[in-house]
Amino acid sequence: MKALVLAGGKGTRLRPLTHTSAKQLVPVANKPVLYYGLEAIRDAGIRECGIVVGDTGAEIRAAVGDGARFGLEVTYIEQPAPLGLAHCVLIAGDFLAGDPFVMYLGDNFLVGGIGGLVEAFTREACDARILLTRVAEPQYYGIAELGPGGEIRALQEKPEHPRSDLAIVGVYAFSPAVHRAVREIRPSARGELEITDAIQWLIENGHTVRSHMVSGYWKDTGRLQDILECNRMVLERVEPGVAGTVDRLSEITGRVVVEPGAVVENSVLRGPVVVGADAKIISSYVGPFTSIGAGCVLQNAEIEYSIVLDGSSVDGVSRIAHSLIGRNVEVSRAAGVSNTHELMVGDHSRIQVKV
Ligand code: G1P
Repeated sequence: MKALVLAGGKGTRLRPLTHTSAKQLVPVANKPVLYYGLEAIRDAGIRECGIVVGDTGAEIRAAVGDGARFGLEVTYIEQPAPLGLAHCVLIAGDFLAGDPFVMYLGDNFLVGGIGGLVEAFTREACDARILLTRVAEPQYYGIAELGPGGEIRALQEKPEHPRSDLAIVGVYAFSPAVHRAVREIRPSARGELEITDAIQWLIENGHTVRSHMVSGYWKDTGRLQDILECNRMVLERVEPGVAGTVDRLSEITGRVVVEPGAVVENSVLRGPVVVGADAKIISSYVGPFTSIGAGCVLQNAEIEYSIVLDGSSVDGVSRIAHSLIGRNVEVSRAAGVSNTHELMVGDHSRIQVKV
């Protein structure tokens, strides 16, 4: 069994972060979301892993390398343009050869790993096995309609009027039969070769496609609220520990990780919280479900339910919540007496200011 990880795409819903960085490398509890997927693949006993990359390929390669540190042998496959998930299977044909494989969307987060999927796929022979979960907004996902016996009746990609609330999770298991399917289908209305259409083709052409519900927590981390929610889930399970220094004036409660070299002075850290290596938290409040990246500086600041990426600073601003702050960003209090907001913000940013 091989793995095919998809780490291309534009990540338009996470702009402006994705102008400069791959969406699969946005950190959850200070670790890129893609790493959780690679670890799950390794834990399922798979070694050979193809990673499909696009415009952000150089960054993905720099982060993952040859895969040895994840216990994987990684082969990179270039996708010249984001032409869809089924197109990724098409161009990975040589790598996948005649082997069954797990396809894993690099921005998906699945607590509980993929061992169950691999095991079920191996135990009950079929040409595709998909994972399903109930979602509140099915129009944003691939959707499965099941018959009375739980068999899949039909699949639809992001239907305007969904006929069920069962979303297709971005982790699939395939037999080599899928290679014919991805050659037979035509691009969808959004101009992409959809994996959902390829699976529907398998069903219509007499192949066995099975499904089961995911038992654990699943998120597609493509949107801000999903990334924050995912961060919350991971932080709730994090092993607390202080490797940096925390002074006597500071108060730490709940699950808190202070990574090596980080300094906490005169501050309140109310977990679950992770403070990255070499960060400085001075006279500040860091509230639940917050990840502070490496080398960040917080001074006279208050922040909660947020993610701050490496090298950023927050000075004299309270209270920041439900926020995702990129790398090397400066957030500070405007000088002077006039009641104005002074902004220098990248393209496609979103700012919500309380007035
Ligand atoms: C893709 C698939 C969709 C699936 C989703 C899961 O959508 O096309 O069927 O439900 O991943 O994350 P995308 O997020 O690429 O638009």
